Amino acid sequence: MNRRYRKTVIAGNWKMNKTLSDTQAFAQQLRELLPRGKWCDIVLCVPAINIPSAVRLFKNTRVAIAAQNVHFEEKGAFTGELSAAMLAEQGVKYVIIGHSERRQYYNETDFTVNKKIHAALAAGLNPILCVGESLEQRELGVTLEYITYQVKTALAGVPAEQMRRIIVAYEPIWAIGTGRTATAQQAGEVCQAIRAVIRKLYDARVARAVTIQYGGSMNAKNAAELLAQPDIDGGLIGGASLNAEDFIQIINAANQE
Ligand code: 13P
Repeated sequence: MNRRYRKTVIAGNWKMNKTLSDTQAFAQQLRELLPRGKWCDIVLCVPAINIPSAVRLFKNTRVAIAAQNVHFEEKGAFTGELSAAMLAEQGVKYVIIGHSERRQYYNETDFTVNKKIHAALAAGLNPILCVGESLEQRELGVTLEYITYQVKTALAGVPAEQMRRIIVAYEPIWAIGTGRTATAQQAGEVCQAIRAVIRKLYDARVARAVTIQYGGSMNAKNAAELLAQPDIDGGLIGGASLNAEDFIQIINAANQE
């Protein structure tokens, strides 16, 4: 982390977990546990149907509500989809774009990811752009090349002044939901490389201000070590965000120092 130049953001990605009643119970628990200090930003990416309720449940707290996906078109015949404007109007502040599960199961490509980034920015949402290599790519030694390609493609056409609204989340696919976390060194190396790509695309000032998260089996035990890496400014947390006590421990780890 480097709080002097950029925000620390701890985000929970609930994926397809928690009904409305589960969400109400979690909100009650989390509100009681939230620290008083004012260091890191907290985000919860809830299932779309529970967004309006979650916005209400976390009103007047430091927890911002996020969506897990968005369509890239403004409106039209896209059955089952939601536009960025629909999300923004409901009080959504952030949106995950290009999560590896969406790339894998719903055929999202780097090109649709790029279009979604533009749609989100246009509606005033802050994108959480996910990138990450597969195990095969890591073993072949092409991780940094692949991540560079993903970042460049996703950010194509994004002007420098919009970059402070973008969070990049590095999520190695082999570490997601597997209990196999990247070592702090592995994660730190890729996050540093992501910042270097942004520096080349824009400039040092823009790169210095971008929040880069790590995601992939991050939990209460390994959070502090990962967050101690200079280029890791937060986490995108799946499994460990489902339990309020575990999630709070990660938030507390981010509030240390
Ligand atoms: P896990 O923390 O369950 O590995 O999930 C990470 C993730 O995909 C967050 O978006």
